[in-house]
Amino acid sequence: MLDQLTLNTLKDELNLGRAEYFPSIPSTNDTALEWISLGCPNYSVVVADKQTKGKGRSGRTWYTLPDSGLAFSFIITEPTQKINLLAGVAALAVYDAVSKFVSADVEIKWPNDILIQKKKVCGILVESQWAGNQVQGIVLGIGINITSKSLNFEEKIRYPASFLERFAKEIIRRDDLFKDILANLIFWDKERTSQEVISAWNQRLAFLGEQITAVRNENNSITGKLLAISDEGNILIKLHSGEVLEYTANEIQVNI
Ligand code: BTN
Repeated sequence: MLDQLTLNTLKDELNLGRAEYFPSIPSTNDTALEWISLGCPNYSVVVADKQTKGKGRSGRTWYTLPDSGLAFSFIITEPTQKINLLAGVAALAVYDAVSKFVSADVEIKWPNDILIQKKKVCGILVESQWAGNQVQGIVLGIGINITSKSLNFEEKIRYPASFLERFAKEIIRRDDLFKDILANLIFWDKERTSQEVISAWNQRLAFLGEQITAVRNENNSITGKLLAISDEGNILIKLHSGEVLEYTANEIQVNI
């Protein structure tokens, strides 16, 4: 069961900052960005059972229906170094937790979609709050499909999507999964400045060494071999000509 009481216990156990549960909210990321601008402690968390205006990457909508998945935003207000690696921190935290609960192949699709048997079960939206040219904080917005109810028709036709219970060893308790992810987020965030994030991110990467198609916009896509994630968290793609191109997550989208 996930509610404010459970969250209060997690807050004490994991030493979180501000932590609030909302039965329904437009977007946990929007609330998290607001909290940062008002001033909130590091490792604060906004959790919702339902989102009415959940945001996905590239301006898309993310649907969160009640009691069907996990939707929350984890706030980092001490992001002095290696901000770009936070996409990897979030992906690793979810990957490691999800792997404990399912008996199937889990992978990370760069930068941070979580796939099981090549189907998307989790999306992550990283956003930042700025005051002038000074970053005030980063929001790691995480949405996980747990039950079949969490799958929206639009999502199913946009890309192959699935839900955790389809691959689960037993019924997944949302509070257990949530606790694991939070503990992992703190663990991987503390590793942010070490090489460990990059090597773990690469080790768990989907399509590594395979031909992929990456889309820059409607009229421009490239095909090449996925070489690796660079030390900056960018994707390295080797073209047929031998040339190696490097893209940030804002520049390119890898297809499933
Ligand atoms: C994607 O497009 O794959 C990213 C989806 C991110 C969804 C999560 S749900 C919690 C948080 N709040 C939002 O509005 N979006 C993120």
